Amino acid sequence: MTDKRKVRKAVFPVAGLGTRFLPATKAVPKEMLTVVDKPVIQYVVDEALEAGIEHLIFVTGRGKAVIEDYFDIQVELDQTLRERNKKAELTLLDGILPPAGTTSFTRQQSPLGLGHAVWCARELVGNEPFALLLPDMIMQGEKGCLKGMVELYEQSGGGNVIAVEECAPDQAHKYGIVGVGDRIGEGYKITGMVEKPAPGTAPSNFYINGRYILQPEIFPILATQERGAGNEIQLTDGMIKLANEQDFAAYHFQGTTYDCGAKDGFILANVAFALQRSDIRSVVEGPLKELVAGLK
Ligand code: UTP
Repeated sequence: MTDKRKVRKAVFPVAGLGTRFLPATKAVPKEMLTVVDKPVIQYVVDEALEAGIEHLIFVTGRGKAVIEDYFDIQVELDQTLRERNKKAELTLLDGILPPAGTTSFTRQQSPLGLGHAVWCARELVGNEPFALLLPDMIMQGEKGCLKGMVELYEQSGGGNVIAVEECAPDQAHKYGIVGVGDRIGEGYKITGMVEKPAPGTAPSNFYINGRYILQPEIFPILATQERGAGNEIQLTDGMIKLANEQDFAAYHFQGTTYDCGAKDGFILANVAFALQRSDIRSVVEGPLKELVAGLK
């Protein structure tokens, strides 16, 4: 029997080294890089809160303490803003402060892979379903990706849900790919999963975009999961085993995902999110068009 209980907790694995973004990530976690005027992690936390998540669990590593500070009060800053009567700034900071007791932090002592990072959250998650959001993937769409997934999770009566998007078939070897069967709501039943399939062997072009709803039975599987692709403990390998016992559905996200862990995705995210803001669009649209028109 799969668990139908509400998805209350979300796990954010933020312990990776961010090697694709060096030297920027030598001293600044990639989750704290800024898209327009907010750190990347804020977009992902906002998506979780929009989906009804009540508790945020961060799996951090060395050099990531600034993430914990970001989700706390900055006493001196607050005091100075108050003295200067900066009401708008105070309201802004107040709006992003999670209520006391709704964040937890644990450490992945060595970056052994995403599967291992998720396993590190087992005590904080406990015996209930949870959302998992990869914090370097940020999304634009009419409906938040996790919100749509929670709806599908409720429609399908529980189980596990993975968000997918379509990629060009010749790019499928770069991603975790799912095979799909019958339709369920805004998604499909998953018939198979494979991490980075050899070119030409992918069961579909639906790639896993970094959002999951998982049942706690994934934890004992990850506890004994051996290293896989890239010599890392892979979450997909654990999910393939869980799929022998439980249902998995794919939520087909209608929007765009930007991989802010890579330079191209990060730059595109900045442009895309800037153009969505009327105050910024009005000043950057013209210069951006000129820059592109001037390309040789
Ligand atoms: P990535 O592979 O994109 O992150 O993992 P990375 O390892 O930091 O990046 P590169 O390849 O070196 O540039 C996806 C997510 O999983 C987390 C990362 O922080 C990222 O958010 N992760 C990955 C962990 O928390 N622990 C790990 O051991 C690996």
